Amino acid sequence: MFPDRLKAAQTAVQQALDAALRDRADVPVVKAMRYTLQGGKRLRAFLVLESAALHGIAQPSALPAAAAVEALHAYSLVHDDLPCMDDDDLRRGQPTIHVKWDEATAVLAGDALQTLAFELCCDPSLGPADRRVALVAALAKASGAEGMVLGQALDIAAETTATPLSLDEITHLQAGKTGALISFAAEAGAILAGADRSALAAYATALGLAFQIADDILDVTGDAGKAGKKLRKDAYAGKATFVSLLGLDGARKRAHDLVEEAEAALSPYGNAADSLRQAARFVIARDM
Ligand code: IPE
Ligand code: IPE
Ligand code: MG
Ligand code: MG
Ligand code: MG
Repeated sequence: MFPDRLKAAQTAVQQALDAALRDRADVPVVKAMRYTLQGGKRLRAFLVLESAALHGIAQPSALPAAAAVEALHAYSLVHDDLPCMDDDDLRRGQPTIHVKWDEATAVLAGDALQTLAFELCCDPSLGPADRRVALVAALAKASGAEGMVLGQALDIAAETTATPLSLDEITHLQAGKTGALISFAAEAGAILAGADRSALAAYATALGLAFQIADDILDVTGDAGKAGKKLRKDAYAGKATFVSLLGLDGARKRAHDLVEEAEAALSPYGNAADSLRQAARFVIARDM
C-alpha cells in the first residue's frame, strides 16, 4: 500500500514540477532548476497529498502544494551542497549544480526554486484565497530564519564551536533544519481544509526528528551508491548530529521511539491515517 502510494505521489509531483517549468526559456538557470527537480524520495510531497486526502481533498486540489514543498526542499539542497556550506559534489546520484554549471548558477537556481515554491502556493486550484494565503504564510515561516534557514545556520555554526552541542541544542537545530519543512508538508492538508492542525503537528514534530536522525545514521552506516550522495562526511566536518551525541545504538533507539510517538499522534484519525503511519516507519527503515 505505502510503496504504491509513494510511487503515485512521485509521478504526480514530477508531472506538476515539469509543467511548472515547461514554458520557461532554455537558459542555464532554468536548465539547472529542471535538473535539480529530478529524483528524490518525494517524502514531503507525499505528506502533503496524504494530509490533504485525510481531509477529503482530492489530489488535483493539493498537487501544487506538494510541488511547492519539493521546489523549496530542492532549493535548500542546492544551497546546502555549495562550497560555502557542505561542499558536496554529488546529489541524487548526479553532480551538484555548482559542479555541473558554476556557483553563480547554483545560487540563482536555488533562489528561483524558492520563489517558484511560493508561486505554486498561489495556484487557484488549491482553493479559496484565504487558504492559499495561510499556506504561503506557513511555508514562509517554515523556510525562513525561524525554520529551515535558522537550522542551517545553527548547523554551520556548530562546526566551529568549542563545546559540543547538548541534546536539547541538537534537537532545536534539527527541528529547524529538517523538521520545519516536514511539519509544513504534513500540516498542509489541514491548512487547505481550514481544519485543526494539532494532531498532524504532533505527528510531524516526531517524524521530522526521526527523519534527521535517520539521515545522520545513514551518513555513518549507509551505502553512498544507494543514498546518491557522499557519506561519512558529518564527523569529518565536525557536524553536531544525534549520532555524535548518542552513538549509533542510542540514535537508533531515539528514532524508533519517535516513530512510535508519531504513530500515536495520529489516533484522532483512526485507520484513515495508516499511510502516514507507514511513512513514519519508512523514514527510519530507508537506505536512501
Ligand atoms: C535530504 O533530504 C536532506 C535532509 C533534509 C536531511 P531527503 O533525504 O528527503 O532528500 P531527497 O529529497 O529524497 O533527495
Ligand atoms: C540538509 O541537511 C538540510 C537542508 C538542506 C535543509 P544535511 O546537510 O544533513 O543533508 P545531506 O546529508 O547533505 O542530504
Ligand atoms: Mg548540511
Ligand atoms: Mg549536506
Ligand atoms: Mg546529512
